[in-house]
Amino acid sequence: LRVRQPIIAIDGPAGAGKSTVTRRVAQALNLVYLDTGAMYRAIAWLVLQSGVELSDYGAIAELVSQAKLEFLPPFEGKPPQIYINGQDISQAIRTPQVTALVSPLSAQASVRAKLVAYQQQLGKKGGIVAEGRDIGTNVFPDAEVKIYLTASVQERARRRLLDFQAQGEENMSLEQLEHDIEQRDYLDSNRCLAPLRKAVDAIEINTDGLSIEEVIDKILNVCPK
Ligand code: DC
Repeated sequence: LRVRQPIIAIDGPAGAGKSTVTRRVAQALNLVYLDTGAMYRAIAWLVLQSGVELSDYGAIAELVSQAKLEFLPPFEGKPPQIYINGQDISQAIRTPQVTALVSPLSAQASVRAKLVAYQQQLGKKGGIVAEGRDIGTNVFPDAEVKIYLTASVQERARRRLLDFQAQGEENMSLEQLEHDIEQRDYLDSNRCLAPLRKAVDAIEINTDGLSIEEVIDKILNVCPK
C-alpha cells in the first residue's frame, strides 16, 4: 500500500537544464511541477522593490514573514505562475537584477525557513516533481527519486546565451555568462545553510552532449511507474 504519491527531487547548479526537464518529467508522470528557484526569486524581487539592503537581516526577515507567496503549477499549456502579495511576478523574477540578488539572499536563514516550510507544505501529500538546490538533501530527504543534474560551465553558458538570443537579447557575451555561472555556483555551494550538493543517494546525470529527450528518458527510467 502506497500511503503517498512519489516525490521526485531534481537538484543541480544554475543552467544545467533543470527547468525544462523537471517540467516535462512532471507532465509525463502526471505529477505537480514545483519550481523552488522561482520562490527564492520572488523574495529577491520583493527585497529589490522594498529598497531594503541585503545586509539588513532584520528588515528582510520582517518582509519575508509578511509575504504571501503563491506558486501555481503549469495548467493546460500555460507556464507556471508566481504571485507575491497578490501580484503576478512570473516575468519580473527573470531579470538580471533579480538573478544577481537571489543567490546571496537565498543564504539568509529567514528566507530559507519560510520557503522550505512552504515547499514541504505543498509536498505533504507527495505527487510532485521539484527542482532546486536542496530538495534531495534538505526539503524532501525522503524523496523516492533524487536526480542531480550537472553540465560543464561552458555548456551551461552556451545554453544561457542561446536562451538570451531567443528572447532578442543580443548583448550578452559567453565570457560574462561563464563568469556569472561560476560565481553563482560558488555562492550556492559554499553557503552555510543547505548548500548545493549532491545527495548521497542521488543519481547524477551530466547533460553535456545529451538532448533534452535523452535526459528526460534517463529520469523516467528510474521513476516509479
Ligand atoms: O534555479 P534558479 O536559478 O531559479 O534559482 C535561483 C537561486 O535560488 C539560486 O541561485 C539559489 C536559490 N535556490 C536555493 O537556494 N534553493 C533552492 N531549492 C532553489 C533555488
